[in-house]
Amino acid sequence: MVFVRHSLPGERVLAQITGTGGRGRFWFADAVEILDPAPQRVAPPCPLAGPGGCGGCDYQHVSLDEQRRWKSQVVAEQLQRLGGVSVDVPIQALPGSAEGLGWRTRIRYAVDNNGRAGFHRYRSDDIVPVDRCLIATPEVQQAEVDDELVSNRDWSGYPEVVVAEGSDETVVAAIPAKPNGKARRIPATTLLERAIDRDWQVSTDGFWQVHPAAAEALCKEVVAACTEADNIWDLYCGVGLFAGALAQQRRRRITAVESDRRAADLAKQNLADLRGVRVMRRDVKAWVSDPRGPDPEAVVLDPPRRGAGEAVLAEIHRSKAQRIVYVACEPASLGRDTGVLTQRGWTLSSVQALDMFPMTHHVESIGVFDR
Ligand SMILES: C[S@@+](CC[C@H](N)C(=O)[O-])C[C@H]1O[C@@H](n2cnc3c(N)ncnc32)[C@H](O)[C@@H]1O
Repeated sequence: MVFVRHSLPGERVLAQITGTGGRGRFWFADAVEILDPAPQRVAPPCPLAGPGGCGGCDYQHVSLDEQRRWKSQVVAEQLQRLGGVSVDVPIQALPGSAEGLGWRTRIRYAVDNNGRAGFHRYRSDDIVPVDRCLIATPEVQQAEVDDELVSNRDWSGYPEVVVAEGSDETVVAAIPAKPNGKARRIPATTLLERAIDRDWQVSTDGFWQVHPAAAEALCKEVVAACTEADNIWDLYCGVGLFAGALAQQRRRRITAVESDRRAADLAKQNLADLRGVRVMRRDVKAWVSDPRGPDPEAVVLDPPRRGAGEAVLAEIHRSKAQRIVYVACEPASLGRDTGVLTQRGWTLSSVQALDMFPMTHHVESIGVFDR
């Protein structure tokens, strides 16, 4: 089997083998010449997309409609293959540029040995210098990344640079080589974001939804799915976005759980004016096994890429929750966790995908499960 990057189904291409995987069971290749193009092929807007170029966007050569069709198909396939559930998955486009460009509010550049910022080539440590990343917002594109590197002079100790756009400023921050190494640390900086009519303090290099319309779109779905519930757990809460949206709608008892010290501290600040909300700085797995407090009616889950996993879901199953609203950035993890839940008697009542990352294969999905 050969996985051919930069090609489309049904095309005839000249492919160059670039590597092997699965202990020689399959190969990776780049389509270096398109002999018979598919109708869905478009000219990549970015000159760095293509064989040997930037390893970031992998769908630049695909029309946006086709990108979305693929993404909904991928989520449906993973639900079927790993979760044993057959469903159609509608996909929602987010407001923004019709070309799928100019949406990324956060960028993490690698820095090469000459002190130039760029992105890694696909499956490589090489860095492709990047002056302008077309999927970044205009503010992020214009950020003075080079100035930051030059002013630090000793940029060899800062192999990454984060550019993050907030509601009133765009911050450029150099990140040390190794979190526990001897490189100097940047002082922890925060940034103000605005979403659902509230201000949010977020850490410059911490988690915040990266598409400018994503926070609103996800909150709308989460709130709609929790209409009936007054007692809710918001697990993997980050700086408190979903807990805030739910508590803002009406007074509820919400427990928000987050393991990262900085994110949890910011969540406490961000939600301080909302009565009935408590933030726990704990590992979710440890917390759900000894939750203290009333049982939830609904649980909102937004885990990292690896998903929530069997142990966390087993504890949620042991609670009295009737509904789980699962926000997933990795379709395979949603598929696996769907399998765990359906085996315990839960039903996937609805699922949809959101195209929060145009030009890339990444896709967000939301599944609503009922007991
Ligand atoms: C995908 S983010 C979701 C954040 C939030 N829901 C939002 O939309 O802004 C996942 C969060 O889970 C946190 N996290 C990862 N593993 C965790 C764990 N084992 N226990 C608690 N929180 C965890 C991360 O620090 C991160 O803030």
